[in-house]
Amino acid sequence: MNKKSVEQLTNLKGKKVLVRCDFNVPLKDGVIQNENRIIGALPTIKALVKKGAKVILCSHLGKPKGEPVPELSLAPVAVSLSKHIGQTVKFADDPTVTGKVTQDMAKDLKDGEVMLLQNTRYRAEETKYGKDEKATEYAKELAALCDDEIFVNDAFGTAHRAHCSNVGVTKFCKENAVGYLMEKEIQFLGNAVENPVRPFVAILGGAKVSDKIGVINNLLEKVDTLIIGGGMAYTFLKAQGKEIGNSLLEADKVDYALDMIKKAEDKGVKLLLPIDNVIGKEFKNDTEFKIVTSIEPGWSGFDIGPKTIELFKDALKGAKTVVWNGPMGVFEFENFAKGTLEVGKAVAELKDATTIVGGGDSVNAVKRLGLADKMSHISTGGGASLEYLEGKELPGVMAADTI
Ligand code: 3PG
Repeated sequence: MNKKSVEQLTNLKGKKVLVRCDFNVPLKDGVIQNENRIIGALPTIKALVKKGAKVILCSHLGKPKGEPVPELSLAPVAVSLSKHIGQTVKFADDPTVTGKVTQDMAKDLKDGEVMLLQNTRYRAEETKYGKDEKATEYAKELAALCDDEIFVNDAFGTAHRAHCSNVGVTKFCKENAVGYLMEKEIQFLGNAVENPVRPFVAILGGAKVSDKIGVINNLLEKVDTLIIGGGMAYTFLKAQGKEIGNSLLEADKVDYALDMIKKAEDKGVKLLLPIDNVIGKEFKNDTEFKIVTSIEPGWSGFDIGPKTIELFKDALKGAKTVVWNGPMGVFEFENFAKGTLEVGKAVAELKDATTIVGGGDSVNAVKRLGLADKMSHISTGGGASLEYLEGKELPGVMAADTI
């Protein structure tokens, strides 16, 4: 599937271009905690500036539930963007998003100037595209800002949503392209899933099986080895009849876990689960802890044990494509971070391999452990990258023009 790219947009000088980014960044007291998504959007913005376009950026931030929430204003993002682009990014502080303040600012934009709209979710219509007539009007208002001409979607993180500002707007613009970040994400994740260089190993972790049902099912069709760690592993261990003490268990997913174990056998996929665990009494770093193979009542598994680390590292040897989503344990607590760190290191040290990290928690883990620049690609999409790994079509991607 080839989508029109920024590269293929010509004669942009003096034209208004509406760009949907995913600036849904973590904020604490108005301070951006992680600028990855902002940095990820820069190549597209800079290219459009260079081509002399009048660049109008938009994004959602958090869930303001259809009304202005000052803590979820995009103002800090405009400041950060200005710093990174090296020119002022004008901020249209308009609670209606597309009102007169915004329209006037868009009209006054000069070639190569950039402005940012207020949080698209300040309007209740944003999340109601296709369900409410008013949402169609809002999508039209957004498209009118670029004279119904050119829309670029670079918001991979939001591509699993079909909202006014990423899908609705495309119905009213003449040209709909994807940005460089979107292209890069599709290229890495798409190639890994559809056309992997083998051996292909997927590592899944994180708390819940229920978050990754579709992913496990789809990846079992594609991978050579599937490694499962983190909290979700205990439901699988339970399915195998192991003692898991007070570890995380999704009782209603035990049958599903059994089905997946069976599916792996049928497909000849190596499915690896923890063979030992670091267990603790209470969910805190300085709780009593020990390494065991069988977990007694009163104790919970908080990390994979040393034998499991070796097992997983062995399975990674020689891998040519690795997709990693979800930590191996409670890496936020130092005493339970080793499994995630060691597996992360093993992935980072692979030679001639494409290594992709997706999903909020695993991305945080990789960054915290200082391994980020050793990976081939760190996805900016949490939910979106999971849906991609599930094999689903992402509405935000589908809406762009096909060439
Ligand atoms: C994300 O952070 O996953 C995206 O920005 C989408 O946000 P949402 O889950 O609030 O729709």
